[in-house]
This record gives sequence, C-alpha cells and structure tokens, in this order.
Amino acid sequence: MPLLSFPEAEVPAELRCQVWQLQEAAWPSGEPDPGSSHDPALAPESLLLVDGGRVLAALDLLTKEIGHDGGRYLARGLSCVVTDPAERGRGHGGRLVRAALEAVRASGADLGVFSCDRPLRGFYRAAGWRELPGAVLVGGTARDPFPTDWPGFDKVVMADLCTGRARAAEWEHRRIALHPGTVDRLW
Ligand SMILES: CC(C)(COP(=O)(O)OP(=O)(O)OC[C@H]1O[C@@H](n2cnc3c(N)ncnc32)[C@H](O)[C@@H]1OP(=O)(O)O)[C@@H](O)C(=O)NCCC(=O)NCCS
Repeated sequence: MPLLSFPEAEVPAELRCQVWQLQEAAWPSGEPDPGSSHDPALAPESLLLVDGGRVLAALDLLTKEIGHDGGRYLARGLSCVVTDPAERGRGHGGRLVRAALEAVRASGADLGVFSCDRPLRGFYRAAGWRELPGAVLVGGTARDPFPTDWPGFDKVVMADLCTGRARAAEWEHRRIALHPGTVDRLW
C-alpha cells in the first residue's frame, strides 16, 4: 500500500479533501477546508497512506529551528496524526508514525520531538519513538506560551535524538522552548 509524501501545499486536491475530512472528524473545527492546516513557516510536509485513491491515514511533519541548552537544533515534529475511524487497529497509524521517524532521521534534522496525550505513549513507543521523561514542550510564543503542562493537560513529550549533538544535550526534565507560533500552537 503506497505511502505518499508531499509538501502540504502540494497535496493533490482529491487527497487533500479526504485529509481534511479525517482531521475534521478527529478535531472538529466546523470550518471549510482552508487548503492547508498548518503555518507555512513550519514547512509542513504530509505523509499519507493511500489505498486505491482512498486516504487511510495521514500525518504532517512540521519543522523549526529551536534554541535549547545553549545550542541551536533543527527540530521536526508530528502533527495531525489520524487514521480513518473505519480503518483503525489495523496497523496503519503505526506504519505511518514509523515512516515519519525514518523521514526525520533521513532529513538531517537534529531531533524529532512532539507531544501527545499520555495514553498514546505506547502507540508511539511501538513505532520507535521514545518518551523524554519530565520534559515539557512549550508551544505558543515566547509572549503567549502554551506548554504541555498547561492545567488540565496530561501530555507527554516523545522524541528521537538523531544527531550526536542532540544526544549530547540535556532534554529530559527540561522545558523545551518550541514556540511554533499562533497557528500551530503546540505540536
Ligand atoms: C491514534 C491513531 C492514529 C492510531 O491509528 P491506528 O491506525 O488505529 O493505529 P495502529 O493500528 O497502528 O495501532 C493502534 C494502537 O494504538 C492504540 N491507541 C489508539 N488510540 C489510542 C488512545 N486514544 N489511547 C490509547 N491507545 C490508543 C490502540 O489501542 C492500538 O494498540 P494495540 O496495537 O496495542 O492494540 C487513531 O486511533 C486515531 O486517528 N485517533 C484519533 C486522532 C488522534 O488521537 N491522533 C493522535 C494525536 S497525538
């Protein structure tokens, strides 16, 4: 079953409308498709699992340079990971998030890092991602931060430290200033 990758802005229209439907089913906005779900400044790239023209599962990879522990690192993260409700539990989501891990490693990024609700830890772990214990990913902006330890949230930070310099830095039990902005407040 083909796994397709496009810059988000170049996803063919017949696939994009299905991706939007899947995203709306998971995170309803009630809005018409804006054409892209992410801030173009984060270079969104879509990974789609497609069977005979039907999108079974989708995710987006976002990219940003971050400052952390005295260094600058190229970080990529997962966003909008979703499988068609009728197709869940068949390994499609797992295949996609593993492919995303391989794409992050192959891209030259220093690390992959993103947050998820705690119950989904096992899903991402099974695909090769690992938890950064005690880490807090700080979304939003420096003036209007939106951290994963926001009251009421129960989130964990998942990562893959790809380069030696990323592995040499301290990430566990640290606040990581991602600050992706106001469109993608937290990834
Ligand atoms: C999470 C999601 C993408 C998984 O897709 P999928 O195609 O069913 O994934 P797989 O078949 O590869 O793996 C399913 C595994 O994830 C687990 N899982 C899925 N959603 C879960 C949840 N909310 N809490 C705990 N475990 C969950 C399943 O129990 C299953 O575990 P098992 O393999 O031990 O039985 C899909 O459930 C989905 O689209 N959910 C709604 C959107 C969402 O929450 N996305 C994640 C945002 S961080």
